[in-house]
Amino acid sequence: MSTLLLTGINSLVTNDPAHGGPLGELHDAAVVIDGGKIAWVGQRRDAPAADTARDLGGRAVIPGFVDSHSHLVFAGDRAEEFAARMTGTPYSAGGIRTTVAATREATDDQLTANVARLVAEMRRQGTTTVEIKSGYGLTVADEARSLQIARQFTDETTYLGAHVVPLDYADDPAAYVELVTGPMLDAAAKHSKWIDVFVERGAFDADQGRAILTAGIARGLQARVHANQLGEGPGVQLACEVGAAAADHCTYLTDADIDALASTGVVAGLLPAIEFSTRSPYPNARRLIDAGVTVALATDCNPGSGYSSSMPFCIALAVRDMHLTPAEALWSATAGGATALRRPDIGHLTPGAQANLAILDAPSYLHLAYRPGVPLITHTLIAGRSHPV
Ligand code: NIG
Ligand code: FE
Repeated sequence: MSTLLLTGINSLVTNDPAHGGPLGELHDAAVVIDGGKIAWVGQRRDAPAADTARDLGGRAVIPGFVDSHSHLVFAGDRAEEFAARMTGTPYSAGGIRTTVAATREATDDQLTANVARLVAEMRRQGTTTVEIKSGYGLTVADEARSLQIARQFTDETTYLGAHVVPLDYADDPAAYVELVTGPMLDAAAKHSKWIDVFVERGAFDADQGRAILTAGIARGLQARVHANQLGEGPGVQLACEVGAAAADHCTYLTDADIDALASTGVVAGLLPAIEFSTRSPYPNARRLIDAGVTVALATDCNPGSGYSSSMPFCIALAVRDMHLTPAEALWSATAGGATALRRPDIGHLTPGAQANLAILDAPSYLHLAYRPGVPLITHTLIAGRSHPV
């Protein structure tokens, strides 16, 4: 295995507190990659020799984005639903059933091709790790195949049989919860790291959510929750009660919810592309950070509530509309996402970490929010291997 030296880095974000500041940023820096891992970071003048060297000509290098929340296994789209929302129709979780019908109809090859297309789109925008949920199959076979397909693209797979009660069980939601915690879990568990539930009016209540998460935990899965998206509710408290890694959305929070997140260390996953695409109010990210809550930023890429695969877009929204500093937003999109996925090996560029990084056609990470909508990522490296964009 040969070593690679990247030099000519005007700004290197390491997320290593040892280098100071909120992001451990180094200027006029260099990185050595060996065997897919970061072997060395430091000032260019101190860089050791390597088998190959590349001069990046003053670009910025950041840890690859860790997108801790997405729903990529689906067929069709809901562009008309989006257009209707923009003229005043509110978002409703009921639209999930439209995608469920299309997904059940699709072949494995069609679903796989759609995930491949979206993952490639993410790679081009600097994402090096993505969590992918099931949740548009909602039968034993369709959830199992959704997770098998997701597994081809990531280790971070999430069983979301409890996305919504499908029409075939509309008259008997209790029977659907039995299915989700019984035969469907049996079929899904071996393909999944995580279990998730949409705790919301119109989806699952706290007792159903608790039954679903504890059944998954008993099978060795780890919990994460769709919480407090459409209104205040029990999702955040349930996530804290069961020791979930993350409570995602957090659009509507009470003081008690913020206290619970801060005291338990459950990550608040903020998904600003959803507020953007549903015209909902943005969560109060400033209050969360000031209260000591760990924040992750993720896309929640899905065909209904928000169909963006772009972490740079989320960073721009977080800075402009959620009042994070550019440094807080970048940390949340990298180290925050890694914390939300319980992955100490990613989200930072320190010796021993995975060599997952993005190279920007810009002198500093500040340009991610300063130049919204501009494709600034020139290369994405995963385990040291380049995915040219
Ligand atoms: O995270 N909230 C539930 N699930 C998705 C939306 C799914 C859809 O509308 O198709 C979300 O926003
Ligand atoms: Fe989601």
